[in-house]
Amino acid sequence: MLKGKDMISIHDLSVDEVQEILALAAELKAKQKAGVEHHLLKGKTLGMIFEKSSTRTRVSFETGMYQLGGQALFLSNRDLQLGRGEPIKDTARVLSRYLDGIMIRTYGHDRVLELAKYADVPVINALTDLLHPCQVLTDLLTIREHKGKNLKGLKMAYVGDGNNMTNSYMYGCAKAGMVFAAATPKDYAPDAEVVRNAVEDAKLTGATITLLNDPVEAVKDADIVVTDTWASMGQEAEHEERKKIFAPYQVNQELLSHADKRVIVMHCLPAYRGEEITEEVLEANADVIFDEAENRLHTQKAIMALTMA
Ligand code: CP
Ligand code: NVA
Repeated sequence: MLKGKDMISIHDLSVDEVQEILALAAELKAKQKAGVEHHLLKGKTLGMIFEKSSTRTRVSFETGMYQLGGQALFLSNRDLQLGRGEPIKDTARVLSRYLDGIMIRTYGHDRVLELAKYADVPVINALTDLLHPCQVLTDLLTIREHKGKNLKGLKMAYVGDGNNMTNSYMYGCAKAGMVFAAATPKDYAPDAEVVRNAVEDAKLTGATITLLNDPVEAVKDADIVVTDTWASMGQEAEHEERKKIFAPYQVNQELLSHADKRVIVMHCLPAYRGEEITEEVLEANADVIFDEAENRLHTQKAIMALTMA
């Protein structure tokens, strides 16, 4: 179903395609743990354009390609002519002549859309200021592992900045039939167009999307509580001001007392202890959070295998 397609937003995926990615990710994870080789992309090459920094994304995509029998090229903005002003549309057409897929992490979402418009090979969004779909698909896999395969009706509460993670969680929860509630300060709500789209998507599955300002109300009876940095890449200059605004949105033990008693806490990392999450909460949920980090590998292998094979 996904062969030859781009993976830019969960909004573009059908409900079945989301399930297909999660099922293959689980299968590839089980095979890897059993030491079974799965060279679904033998001889294929992925180009990885990074205009923003990364630990998990770079290492998991590169290792994932290797485990699938292919190879990955790290293309830093500092080294590409793209960084010196060569147009994206030319870069896209040139790279399409060499590569079988292109992964990109960048600032403006329009840069990924432009790349995909001109590339003849699948383009995978590895984070923009608007969306981080690979991370949220990964989180759905992790929730399946910790809460059971049926995600329908599970409540996820997001607390903090209405950013690229919040936007993608809305799309992911909508397609998975979940109950999603976000609590953000008034001026830091998620993207309005994404909210509209997610509310429409939710009608397909019976999911619900609720936007709030009160963190206690959001986490009430939640099965999963998620948060993310208060200052995303590119917002470093606002960090001190944001720390004050977001202080009431910290995920701590007191806030979690309002959630379901079997609540799990997730974080895409990197985490800022003492800001969006306390050391105590992060360490108490370390098994889930580092499964979540590991699952980037398995989920992205599934995405690459389905789009690039
Ligand atoms: N969660 C995530 O995308 O991590 P990196 O920024 O390290 O890739
Ligand atoms: N919201 C964060 C996510 C990092 C993985 C950022 O964009 O920096």
